[in-house]
Amino acid sequence: MRIGIIGAGAIGGTLARRLAKRGHQVSIANSRGPESLAALAAEIGATPVSVVDAANTGEIVIISIPTKAVADLPRDLFANVPSSVVVIDTGNYHPELRDGRIDAIDQGMLDSQWVAHQLRRPVIKAFNNILAKSLLEKGVPRGMTGRIALSVAGDSFDAKATVLRLVDDLGFAPVDGGDLDNSWRQQPGTPAYCRDLEASALRRALAEADRSRIAEYRAEREARIRRDIASHHDESDKR
Ligand SMILES: NC(=O)c1ccc[n+]([C@@H]2O[C@H](COP(=O)([O-])OP(=O)(O)OC[C@H]3O[C@@H](n4cnc5c(N)ncnc54)[C@H](OP(=O)(O)O)[C@@H]3O)[C@@H](O)[C@H]2O)c1
Repeated sequence: MRIGIIGAGAIGGTLARRLAKRGHQVSIANSRGPESLAALAAEIGATPVSVVDAANTGEIVIISIPTKAVADLPRDLFANVPSSVVVIDTGNYHPELRDGRIDAIDQGMLDSQWVAHQLRRPVIKAFNNILAKSLLEKGVPRGMTGRIALSVAGDSFDAKATVLRLVDDLGFAPVDGGDLDNSWRQQPGTPAYCRDLEASALRRALAEADRSRIAEYRAEREARIRRDIASHHDESDKR
């Protein structure tokens, strides 16, 4: 498929690498322009493009940038993009660590609902609850034991089916995570977040999440990342 990726960092870059390897025609964009992506693109077999071109050349467009940066994308980015084009949001809102406070999300809007609102375009939430390293290294063909599962949430049946097939193509077991209103079940810190679970365990984890704890889950996750960064610094100081 033709796939445009906006964001060429840990997740966008990894998706570009893996998707190009699977034979997809991948275009990648970042905030600094295509020249800055020339070396990476040549290495992985993708085409470096502008953000506008990434949005306009794909049958699938993947948004993989910090949540706060979504507000900086061109206002009418998807105005002329056919509705058949599937837009995927890989994002996670990290208010303390990266994004600053986004009032609408703090007041209860789900991460991907906010992204869809900013883009004026429905999105499918996927690839937000796996770490880049697992995405790069742990995909295996269908039928192999221990295949990690990834959940996909969104409102369009057809768009979600396309993304579920993409998950499978990348070597992960596709799990329907419900509509976008259920996408909180795979947001930061939930039982289904970045735990490299197999399909049955992932379904259980999605089901056991508690909606009243969305903010708490997120805060716990951010605190954990902060602790991990601090202990990593402590280790470096000792060397
Ligand atoms: N890292 C993970 O393991 C992981 C896992 C799951 C989900 N996520 C989520 O996925 C999203 C991306 O995370 P990441 O870790 O890949 O981030 P990252 O490594 O920091 O990379 C961010 C990318 O976004 C680009 N970008 C920033 N602002 C932009 C703008 N206004 N227009 C176009 N491109 C822009 C950056 O380009 P420049 O360098 O040119 O600025 C960079 O290529 C985040 O929401 C994150 O929470 C991350």
